[in-house]
Amino acid sequence: MTKTKQKSEIRELTAKDIPHIAEAEVKCFPEDAWDESAIRESVLHPLSYSLVQMNNNVLSGYLISFVYAGEAHLFNIAILPKFRQRGYASELLSHWMNIITVMDARVVYLEVRHSNQAAISLYEKFGFRTVGVRTKYYSNGEDAILMTCDIPQDDDME
Ligand SMILES: CC(C)(COP(=O)(O)OP(=O)(O)OC[C@H]1O[C@@H](n2cnc3c(N)ncnc32)[C@H](O)[C@@H]1OP(=O)(O)O)[C@@H](O)C(=O)NCCC(=O)NCCS
Repeated sequence: MTKTKQKSEIRELTAKDIPHIAEAEVKCFPEDAWDESAIRESVLHPLSYSLVQMNNNVLSGYLISFVYAGEAHLFNIAILPKFRQRGYASELLSHWMNIITVMDARVVYLEVRHSNQAAISLYEKFGFRTVGVRTKYYSNGEDAILMTCDIPQDDDME
């Protein structure tokens, strides 16, 4: 069956979304899902800039980040399994990067599991590069790859 993609609605994550994000975490990160209180603590933090992506009123994806002092930290981006490989993560990441540029972020940092080739490929497609490794970062002993991406600002062009 051909996978089709509809244009999604992307909006800021609110407190009402938290239980749905907690359910999605279990499906998207079976090994280390954030529980509802961890999600609440992050997304209601004043530095949070977090998004949900909806398809016909169904949650298809979400992104959790902090943006401050010219830096953005991308903690989580996830697309629900049945929506994957149709460009939804690209749409969400692109939307987020446009907004954080307006918020004056100049650099993005993130950590990703060494084995998470899908996510690493996604980030590379968006210009992220590997700048380090955090040894045994995850609870199962797996290393994290530290990736970063510079965001060009208008005044860089002058
Ligand atoms: C990683 C993830 C967000 C990608 O979402 P997606 O909507 O399927 O991604 P897209 O369809 O936008 O694909 C964009 C790019 O990602 C990469 N990619 C996506 N799925 C891939 C896969 N299964 N294998 C290899 N590369 C993949 C490709 O580079 C792809 O570009 P291409 O279509 O030109 O080949 C999704 O697989 C996911 O939610 N995984 C579980 C949560 C997770 O690991 N998040 C990252 C935490 S750091």
